[in-house]
Amino acid sequence: MSADWKLTVGGMRADVLVWQVDLDRLAAARPTAPLLAADERERAGRFATERLRTRFTAARAALRDGLGQILGVPPDALRFSAGPHGKPRLVPTPSIPAVEFNVAHSEGLAIFACSVSGPVGVDVERVWPIADLGHVAHLYFSASEQAALMASAPHARLAAFYRCWTRKEAFVKASGVGLRFPLDRFDVTFGADEPPTLTLHDAPLAAAAWRLEALPVARGYEAAIACRSTAAVISTADLVQAA
Ligand SMILES: CC(C)(COP(=O)(O)OP(=O)(O)OC[C@H]1O[C@@H](n2cnc3c(N)ncnc32)[C@H](O)[C@@H]1OP(=O)(O)O)[C@@H](O)C(=O)NCCC(=O)NCCS
Repeated sequence: MSADWKLTVGGMRADVLVWQVDLDRLAAARPTAPLLAADERERAGRFATERLRTRFTAARAALRDGLGQILGVPPDALRFSAGPHGKPRLVPTPSIPAVEFNVAHSEGLAIFACSVSGPVGVDVERVWPIADLGHVAHLYFSASEQAALMASAPHARLAAFYRCWTRKEAFVKASGVGLRFPLDRFDVTFGADEPPTLTLHDAPLAAAAWRLEALPVARGYEAAIACRSTAAVISTADLVQAA
């Protein structure tokens, strides 16, 4: 893959393309199951409720639809495998390059990112009240993140918590390790007016290669993206219409 290769769709050129989909609207707008492979339909069938089944199916269809448009191939031509910690990846073929991608969903909202600038991770969370923020932060945040969270104004603390959480999860998903990554061994910044940055306790120089961004999403959600390229042009595209 050439270093200056860009993703091009609808006249847009970018290193990382992000799209988001309201899963319930997409499922109501058109049949989504036909786009899925047999193993995905089998997985959908294992969900306990119709709602979870429908949302999973819509998310897979939206992933295939978006990647298919970006790569110029039919959505059902895409094959997936998994990395050592379960991160899904594309099986490349002569007509399908090995681009990186990642998926996140929370309730009815799904976010997708496709990258030609190295590993990418996304996270989205529905913002729910949390009774004991300090306790949850103690379980999942680094010491300096816990201190920064508890120093934030009480009325702004829940939003700060979700900014921190989504940035951390986007990074561990980009790394491919997921939540088994030691969450107390790195810091993200999450102040309301602070640019998102990453500090890796055990590899301070490596952190400079990473870029973290908040992603604009519907009210009531918080989302973030991490990619291993500081110069990457990250664009949002309306790839999968759910109306
Ligand atoms: C991946 C993981 C971060 C998901 O977190 P989550 O908040 O429940 O879900 P999200 O919506 O953010 O992401 C789910 C998507 O992440 C992707 N994913 C799965 N494993 C991944 C990994 N190791 N790295 C990055 N992305 C991964 C999948 O596309 C998944 O979507 P799908 O279930 O529709 O296939 C978490 O399950 C994890 O860390 N798994 C790998 C490590 C592991 O085995 N952990 C056991 C429990 S701690």
